[in-house]
Amino acid sequence: MAQPKHFLELDQFSVAQLRTILDLSTDLKSRVRKSHPLQAKTLAMIFEKPSTRTRVSFEVGMKQLGGEVIVLNANELQIGRGETIADTARVLSRYVDVIMLRTDEPKKLYELAEYSTVPVINGLTDRSHPVQLLADIMTYEEHIGPIGDACIAWCGDGNNMALTWLQAATLFGFELRLACPNELSLDEEDVSYAKEHGAQIFVSNDPISAVKDADCVVTDTWVSMGGEGASSRLKILEPFRVCQSLMRHASPEAIFMHCLPAHRGEEVEASVLEGVQSVVWDEAENRLHAQKGLLMWCLS
Ligand code: CP
Ligand code: NVA
Repeated sequence: MAQPKHFLELDQFSVAQLRTILDLSTDLKSRVRKSHPLQAKTLAMIFEKPSTRTRVSFEVGMKQLGGEVIVLNANELQIGRGETIADTARVLSRYVDVIMLRTDEPKKLYELAEYSTVPVINGLTDRSHPVQLLADIMTYEEHIGPIGDACIAWCGDGNNMALTWLQAATLFGFELRLACPNELSLDEEDVSYAKEHGAQIFVSNDPISAVKDADCVVTDTWVSMGGEGASSRLKILEPFRVCQSLMRHASPEAIFMHCLPAHRGEEVEASVLEGVQSVVWDEAENRLHAQKGLLMWCLS
């Protein structure tokens, strides 16, 4: 039996494979919705953490493609009472055609994928958020041009989104400048791996030098879902806020991206989020298109 086409981490893919998914996404975005290629297919989504964009964009996307959706909150499943993820995977595989999981520990995602006979999609873990990066690349290329030529500046927490940008930079070859406080930097091991694989990664704790002449400035919440020590983090991260004076160091044509939800006055100043350089609403919309492409790829 052919292996299911899981989507777990960006670094398990080649650029050519990711380009296939992105091309499908772009094609679906431009097409009038007449056909229903995923008719009679069902997507199950398991959420162990809250979600607005991931939940709604997957559900709407699957329905636009003619499919059905079941949303499962983990605390309503038998997983909450001790049934294993492996057993859950084997049972769900008999009912549905694709499973998305949003969870904390990546090992839960890998266990689901190991025992599932249908494709499993990573809908965010504490380590990574690859479906978001598909939408982010799509958005960058729509506004500026080929991602391979980009200089991207990340300012803030070295979290799951920062790690996913690191994986994307390693694959696509763009320059990534990460400005994070020392205490909240990405793991040295992940940065070394990226550098050994030819990535142009520059790590510092200086937002101004990271942003200098960059094509795109990116940030994310200072306290991720399930994150601890909110008040001490906010203090440490204060100098990394994306404010107008910081944006002035970027290229005059630079865009601002944020996966959302945003916290105005924390990681980003309201005037930047709402300003002319911000493409966050296009970025959120592209979740829908990118995931439609991904669902088509998984189920083809
Ligand atoms: N960006 C993102 O994944 O948003 P949600 O947490 O609302 O799904
Ligand atoms: N880093 C954030 C991303 C939310 C989409 C979190 O994990 O909560």
